[in-house]
Amino acid sequence: MGGRAAIILAAGKGTRMKSAKPKVLHEVAGRPMIDWSIELARSVGCDPIVVVVSPSQSELKAAVEAKLGPGSTAIQDEPLGTGHAVRAAQKALKDHSGVVVVLYADTPLIQTETIETLLGRAEDKGGVGVLGFEAEVPGAYGRLITSGEALDRIVEAKDATPEELAVAFCNSGVMAAGQSDLFSLLGDVTNENAKGEYYLTDIVGLAKAKGLNAHALTCDEADVMGVNSRAELAAVGHAFQTRRRERALDEGVTMAAPDTVFFSYDTVLENDVTLEPNIVFGPGVSVKSGATIRAFSYLEGAEVRAGAIVGPFARLRPGTLLEEGVRVGNFVEVKNTHMREGAKANHLSYLGDGDVGARANIGAGTIFCNYDGFFKYHTTIGSGAFVGSNSSLVAPVAIGEGAYIGSGSVITDDVTADALVIARGQKIEKDGWALSFRTRMSAKKAAGEVS
Ligand code: UD1
Ligand code: MG
Repeated sequence: MGGRAAIILAAGKGTRMKSAKPKVLHEVAGRPMIDWSIELARSVGCDPIVVVVSPSQSELKAAVEAKLGPGSTAIQDEPLGTGHAVRAAQKALKDHSGVVVVLYADTPLIQTETIETLLGRAEDKGGVGVLGFEAEVPGAYGRLITSGEALDRIVEAKDATPEELAVAFCNSGVMAAGQSDLFSLLGDVTNENAKGEYYLTDIVGLAKAKGLNAHALTCDEADVMGVNSRAELAAVGHAFQTRRRERALDEGVTMAAPDTVFFSYDTVLENDVTLEPNIVFGPGVSVKSGATIRAFSYLEGAEVRAGAIVGPFARLRPGTLLEEGVRVGNFVEVKNTHMREGAKANHLSYLGDGDVGARANIGAGTIFCNYDGFFKYHTTIGSGAFVGSNSSLVAPVAIGEGAYIGSGSVITDDVTADALVIARGQKIEKDGWALSFRTRMSAKKAAGEVS
């Protein structure tokens, strides 16, 4: 056995997306579709992975090569069909002798276990394995023609007889076969059909004719939903969210309104996390057991530990770490900041590029002034420090442990531990001034003076 390889087909035009961006670079749950298929191939141990692109897709080629390295794409000069597209990857796989799985780059929700099973069978039984599904509306899908357990051939809808069209068992497009079988069968595929294309699907009938085994595996239709339009992109995103919400509930997450919580492809939630309604998780968030995310919060690139409470209306940006028992309240934005155990910022603050010590209290309206228009600077707050409301901490700056910053201060220099600092305009108070002002002005107005 010579390992596993994957060919990912992505040379389609994607015109129905009406986008300047290649179709498969559009995202589902925070990850481009092409990356879903690459990660799927990786998750079953495929190496190499070759992505077939068209000559006009330089942006896609660059994105794939940035991830998989040079030589990981193959160019299909002309879109002459799926069989032709797979052949474009032949040269890149010439040193591979194991099994090959063919995936589409626009079908992001296929499960790892499904491909594992398909490849496992191809390795055990040889021949050609096809992933099929029972379609609610078979429409334009290729039909899997079986006799009992055995798969005989695939017929494309345009080439099918009325009887064949009545078959609801459809081709997902995913196939697995040994490298040498795949390419030798493809060598015999012609374009004598309704579309004048080289159909990958023809290799099933050709395999049978050569006495090779062909078999079909069934998965849920929802797993093989493809994306050709923005509506389908939204539908696939919705299907992902539905499945992810069910999983979260299943794993012990409390959600009062699961339909209003939006996950990223990589959101990590432990059991006994509580999620209030209307929360969005961008990529890179993990929330530990016992933490609560309150309503209308937006989190990305953040770790929230046990007992922390975030929101309502909080924004956590990349590089945020909230340790045990931290509170981040309404209209607080935290970016690249480590808040240590029990620290609090409950209202209306911006904490960017900082380190907030344990149990420190950040008053309402505090701003970490981290940017001078050119560079970013760091703010450090010692444990137990108290920052009064409406303070501006002009970074780089460090507030010592237990120090106390008077409200409304602008702090530009470091503050020593346990000191009190007040840095604001001095108060001036004039006894009776307001009363005499009002008396004088009312008299002027009554006398008919204009100003
Ligand atoms: C294909 C299958 C059909 C299956 C359906 C599932 C064939 C002949 N038919 O039909 O049985 O039910 O998918 O969605 O395989 N592509 C290229 N180069 C080409 C043509 C296609 O890279 O020359 C890529 C496309 O980008 C796409 C995939 O292959 O990712 C499928 O192509 P598409 O034209 O959508 O095939 P269908 O006609 O839908
Ligand atoms: Mg299609």
